[in-house]
Amino acid sequence: MQVVLDGVHKQFRKEDGQVLQVLKGINLTVRAGEFLSLIGPSGCGKSTILNIIAGLEQPSEGSVRVNGKPINGPGIDRIVVFQEAGLFPWLSVLDNVTYGLLLKNMPRKKAEAKAMDVLRMVHLGRFANAYPHELSGGMKQRVAIARALVMDPDILLMDEPFAALDEQTRIVLHQELQEIWQQTKKTVIFITHNIREAVMLSERIILMGTRPGMVKQEFVVEAARPRDPSDSVLVHLEKRIMAGLEQEMEKVLKEEMGDDYRLQKGVVYHDPLYHLGSDI
Ligand SMILES: Nc1ncnc2c1ncn2[C@@H]1O[C@H](COP(=O)(O)OP(=O)(O)O)[C@@H](O)[C@H]1O
Ligand SMILES: [Mg+2]
Repeated sequence: MQVVLDGVHKQFRKEDGQVLQVLKGINLTVRAGEFLSLIGPSGCGKSTILNIIAGLEQPSEGSVRVNGKPINGPGIDRIVVFQEAGLFPWLSVLDNVTYGLLLKNMPRKKAEAKAMDVLRMVHLGRFANAYPHELSGGMKQRVAIARALVMDPDILLMDEPFAALDEQTRIVLHQELQEIWQQTKKTVIFITHNIREAVMLSERIILMGTRPGMVKQEFVVEAARPRDPSDSVLVHLEKRIMAGLEQEMEKVLKEEMGDDYRLQKGVVYHDPLYHLGSDI
């Protein structure tokens, strides 16, 4: 399904009555079946955009349409996967995945068959009877993805789903998510602060500017799949995105530390995996 944001503004009223302008004039079209990432400094409004598309927040101005229809509230055509898996600890993996289907009154046998299909897709078929506390962080996140996929949404909204995982686990999940996306052709809107992750997964990357949040730059990732992190196209693209992100970070840091503050050039980029930590 296609998602169109047209002149979306969002303001929040803070407790002291002041108005906080979070998003300003967001125009964005996500094609049906596209894998699009949003990247930008902390607080630039990434989650707010996702929440608006999910129907959890309303824009202050502008419109959001899914396949031409205005959004009014959450719907099962759009499902969000968060950084925390949020599984029910008292339910087995299988019961966690069937939960939403049973709520929709699907007969248990049929729900379990569907759940097993998606669990196999995320390579967790053997863990159907395990409980969340028996799983690693990466496995829990795969259950969360299975729980979203089983509902067969057209649009998967992912808000930093791998941010709490270690680098090795994240690499495995990148491969898995690439395969799922290629198999299912869902529209995926993926938030990350990890540039490597964005170039490995996306067809297109939107770099956001901050204060207020806006679309700053757009990058098309023209590299073959499965993606190879040492592909020179990707390495070059990472540098370009980093340069843009550094500018935005410097803007935020100047507000916090004074106008004479300068972010050392390339300082973020020196991390060999370009992982910026959870505070970016
Ligand atoms: N419900 C809310 N009320 C007031 N301010 C909010 C609310 N939700 C988000 N904000 C503020 O909006 C800004 C953008 O938040 P968010 O979309 O979570 O950014 P990001 O996901 O890019 O880190 C932040 O300054 C945040 O504090
Ligand atoms: Mg966020």
